[in-house]
Amino acid sequence: MLKVKALICEHVNNPIGLGCLKPRLSWQIESDNIYVFQKRFQLQVAINPAFEPLLWNHFSYSEQSILFPYEGPPLESGQRYYYRVKVWAQGAGDTEPEESEWSEIGFWEMGLLHEQDWKAQWITVQERSIHEKFQTRAPFAASKCFSVEGKVKKAVIYATSLGLYELELNGQRVGDAYFTPGWTDYNDRVQVQAYDVTSTVREQHNRITATVGEGWYSGYLGWQKRKDTYGNTNALLFQMKISYEDGRSELICSDSSWEETSCAILMSDIYNGEIYDARLEQQAAEHRFLNERKMMQVAPFPLSHLVAQENEPVRVMNRLKPVELIWTPKGELVLNLGQNMVGWLEFKVEAPEGTVLNLVHGEVLDQQGNFYRDNIRDAAQQITYICSGKGTEIFRPHFTFQGFQYVKLEGFPAGVAIEDFTGVVLHSDMATIGLFETSDPKLNQLQHNIVWGQKGNFLDVPTDCPQRDERLGWTGDAQIFARTASFNMNSASFFRKWLKDLAYNQLENGAVPFVVPDVLKGTFADNMDQTTAAWGDAAVICPWTIYQCYGDKQILAQQYDSMKAWVDYIRAQGTEEHLWDTGLQLGDWLALDSEEGSYFGATDGTLVATAYFAYSTHILAQTAKLLNRYTDYNTYQSLHEGIRSAFANRYFDDAGKLTSNTQTAQVVALHFGLVPEKYKKQVVQELVRLIEKNDMHLDTGFVGTPYLCLVLSDNGYTDIAYKILFQKDYPSWLYQVERGATTMWEHWDSIKVDGSFWSTDMNSFNHYSYGSVGDFMYQNIAGIDVLEAGYKKSRLAPKPPVNLTSAHGKLETPYGEVAVHWEIVNEEMRMTVHVPHNTTAEITLPGVLEPDALQQTITKQYPSIQYPPGNVPQELAGKSGSPGEQAIFELSGDHELTFTVGSGQYTFQYKYNQRLNNID
Ligand code: BGC
Repeated sequence: MLKVKALICEHVNNPIGLGCLKPRLSWQIESDNIYVFQKRFQLQVAINPAFEPLLWNHFSYSEQSILFPYEGPPLESGQRYYYRVKVWAQGAGDTEPEESEWSEIGFWEMGLLHEQDWKAQWITVQERSIHEKFQTRAPFAASKCFSVEGKVKKAVIYATSLGLYELELNGQRVGDAYFTPGWTDYNDRVQVQAYDVTSTVREQHNRITATVGEGWYSGYLGWQKRKDTYGNTNALLFQMKISYEDGRSELICSDSSWEETSCAILMSDIYNGEIYDARLEQQAAEHRFLNERKMMQVAPFPLSHLVAQENEPVRVMNRLKPVELIWTPKGELVLNLGQNMVGWLEFKVEAPEGTVLNLVHGEVLDQQGNFYRDNIRDAAQQITYICSGKGTEIFRPHFTFQGFQYVKLEGFPAGVAIEDFTGVVLHSDMATIGLFETSDPKLNQLQHNIVWGQKGNFLDVPTDCPQRDERLGWTGDAQIFARTASFNMNSASFFRKWLKDLAYNQLENGAVPFVVPDVLKGTFADNMDQTTAAWGDAAVICPWTIYQCYGDKQILAQQYDSMKAWVDYIRAQGTEEHLWDTGLQLGDWLALDSEEGSYFGATDGTLVATAYFAYSTHILAQTAKLLNRYTDYNTYQSLHEGIRSAFANRYFDDAGKLTSNTQTAQVVALHFGLVPEKYKKQVVQELVRLIEKNDMHLDTGFVGTPYLCLVLSDNGYTDIAYKILFQKDYPSWLYQVERGATTMWEHWDSIKVDGSFWSTDMNSFNHYSYGSVGDFMYQNIAGIDVLEAGYKKSRLAPKPPVNLTSAHGKLETPYGEVAVHWEIVNEEMRMTVHVPHNTTAEITLPGVLEPDALQQTITKQYPSIQYPPGNVPQELAGKSGSPGEQAIFELSGDHELTFTVGSGQYTFQYKYNQRLNNID
């Protein structure tokens, strides 16, 4: 039975408040058949679910089933559009395409598209109290009462703020998003959220309350105690449209008729935490306005910067039960969450009125088992709660988040119990799309740590760390981790939004700032561009990664000018056109091959810079080609050639040795294709030698680490890649696991072998960069990789490590699930793969002991499949393994069998020989 399922609009299921004028629609195909390809489709759009009249009725003889743009009549503000899809698809044995039923109905709803749709005004308060110690402005609350006369058909709120806001309608929290309106460069754009509140509006009396805090807009950002990055006045913008059954509609808008109300939050700052006086809460709950009436003031902020929400909002994603409540040797009461996490500690308490509770958040205990927070630097990460004394009180903070595993509790009453606490985990609500599991619990823990590093650092923007006084969008960290991130969660919209800020923050000369949104402006010397290779290259590598992983070509078009500006910037930097041998280079940041305690690795920073120059230029040329910009394609192709030869001249000596004799130098030269063919073998062997010299351990930093294992594996040394990956002693990934890590550490030696810490200076226990090895694990152990953008064609080629007996990898691609499961039992390989419809996969079976016997088996798998002449899907025609043809399977390498299949689930069972697979 052929079916259409999983309707998605702009990467989201039934979005509301959409801003794009040509939303792109995706769907998946379900069928019992194999080798199923979509031949044509019909797409209908209407403004009601009965699809009468039709707004757009589109037929297309196309295989495209993801990100198909709406091209019908112009879309209108606030309107909901329904859509459905039907496909004609042909599978194995079909003589002609089968027609599906209509899909279930999906919808999208537009936000306010034009400035003139806004009748609301920005409002703010006259005065704010300033917290003495932190010098922060207290959040404010504003309320409006309104009555509803008639039967409500629909009520939608559009809201945003300069600062962070939360809304309550009739005492109920509006929506499930936190940290709204999200972090963009507010000088460029401020996102608007839409909420359907039809079921919360009451007949007659209603009351809406908004609370607004400083957030990223005016709170502390960066380690230099700077605030007011975007302005010093927080403000709210609110517009609600109530549509009645009888056709009338009315607007409730923020304006000077709103009144300031009591707010129990006395201080709330992203880094420093929150102070909350629950004694003031009652006033608000009783709808009491301030003793002295204070009306809100209209603020003269523009409406021209408003855009619809662009990525998935931050939501509560997990709720964790703490694992222990202990008294430390110092006599402090400390709660252990058992997981380094980001969000809040929610608690329940019963204590007399005025009792002051303090919760101080830290990541680790020190060697003596005492609470430790020196690595958090100047971020107070403290919650202070003053009890109302009215029975059981439950609290969670508002405009702040904490990165922590341990919480020091002060002032809690004697009966405090572990059950009174819950870790509330918050991050951008990206769909989990990847699964990676093996027979090795330690490796599984590493995967867990990588995923939790991602959870903790994907809170609306990709951050370096979530706890100390940074939490900034360091471009290098994001670039390094983007591919792994895109395996674990659907990060398409997340990066799309952030990359817009990157482009906006790019300097006129194309330089990409260290952090995006750029809040470090003015931190460094005026004559510095505040950029460096591998960091600024996020401008090129991130859009390319998103395109590869999700087939979203639009992101390349969106970022093209920014990508090009970055490459042109580099081109103007060097002492000659094809080198980047000037300026500040962070290079192989935190590598272990330089002196103890240094942040800079031993690899020549200009070698790294020129290598990235080549890589970004290569990607830019490929992008230009995809976007049909052939002049640019030619320009950057030849620039790339020029950089390659300049690299060879500058960084190789006559004997074919790289000028930096480090693991990272060999790795980047190989990974970015910069080693002249004649030296290739030698460079690979040098890398192996350096690893052997280091007792089969890595010593790479931010630049070498992501590619080290990939390069080894791509060059015939998968066995050595696995040796490094499975090391358990320092320095290695599993050393952290052995030490009880639950997220990724910033340094290989964040906790040293003797148990002491790396300096307090910069020592995060939740830094995802070294988690970038996740990409290698998915690609090599599970064996899942992309061959054609969006997994239109996958490569399924696991390389089983000797110490594993099974691995299971799954990835929800835009077309559906790609999966590989392998298991070795008594020298027999059992491997099952799943290939989604409308795609193909190149499968490589490893360690085949008797290839001929296996070829027989595979051929026999499709005895009845016959395509009528001319109907063999183009991408399979003439290729080995097409059903109905004489199956010829290529022996790639000595004992690997490679062939291409269409959609379906396939199981292979054969005599397996690990040694033949050359991995031991
Ligand atoms: C951040 C890094 C970042 C680095 C660059 C650090 O403070 O945490 O991850 O990339 O600075 O200098």
